[in-house]
Amino acid sequence: MDESPRRKVFAANWKMHKTAAEAREYIEDLCPLVAGSAAEIVVFPGALSVPAVAEAARGSNICVGLQNICWAGEGAYTGEISAAQAAAAGVQYVICGHSERRHIFDESGELVTRKARAAQSGGLIPLICVGETADERRLEETEDVLRSDIFSSLAALEPDGDIIIAYEPVWAIGTGQNATADDAEREIAFIRALVAEQWDADFAAEIRILYGGSVNPDNIGEFMAMPNIDGVLVGGASLEARKFAAIVNYDEQE
Ligand code: PGA
Repeated sequence: MDESPRRKVFAANWKMHKTAAEAREYIEDLCPLVAGSAAEIVVFPGALSVPAVAEAARGSNICVGLQNICWAGEGAYTGEISAAQAAAAGVQYVICGHSERRHIFDESGELVTRKARAAQSGGLIPLICVGETADERRLEETEDVLRSDIFSSLAALEPDGDIIIAYEPVWAIGTGQNATADDAEREIAFIRALVAEQWDADFAAEIRILYGGSVNPDNIGEFMAMPNIDGVLVGGASLEARKFAAIVNYDEQE
């Protein structure tokens, strides 16, 4: 029984996979498989596949997101995409601060915050990723990292808009080594408490907080059984429509 007022979110982060033709075929396969779901389903394709995904998803319950955004609204920023350009192409969500952006492309907390603010003021829903590295975990710094990432990201945002947070321990991403559902629940409850501290208890009760890191059709049920976990951000296991549909439809499994 789902007693939470928060609508579940199932997000597929394709990273740098799939051509536009492959993306279209995937969405055509996915649409009938998840048509009965009441959850929020968001696919984050590569930027060049956004138009194909938006067109193939039209009239379905699948929404389109972008994996990254420019903090500036317009101007001389070669290679970047603005929130307005994304929205015009059918994008409704933007991932901000994915660990690959933070660690491979050296995005600072400050940059992530500026991106989240640009997304929000452009009418998009920022999906802000936070999480500790393996070293930080070993040094028992997880909660310090979460506190500093959450406070810096949320400080610049307006709590009246929709914001989604994803707790993604870096060591669990793409490794097949997921956090246990109990550990994910504990950190996500901690993040919810930080949101209450920064804003207020009402907003903390409403904000959706997801888990990400080696989620698959076999472990999804354990995460979704946790009271504070409102959905998942899925990388590798989202690349096949059937697998991602099995995650979305986890409650139909035996
Ligand atoms: P993974 O990736 O599911 O392949 O671990 C998750 C993510 O990067 O969001």
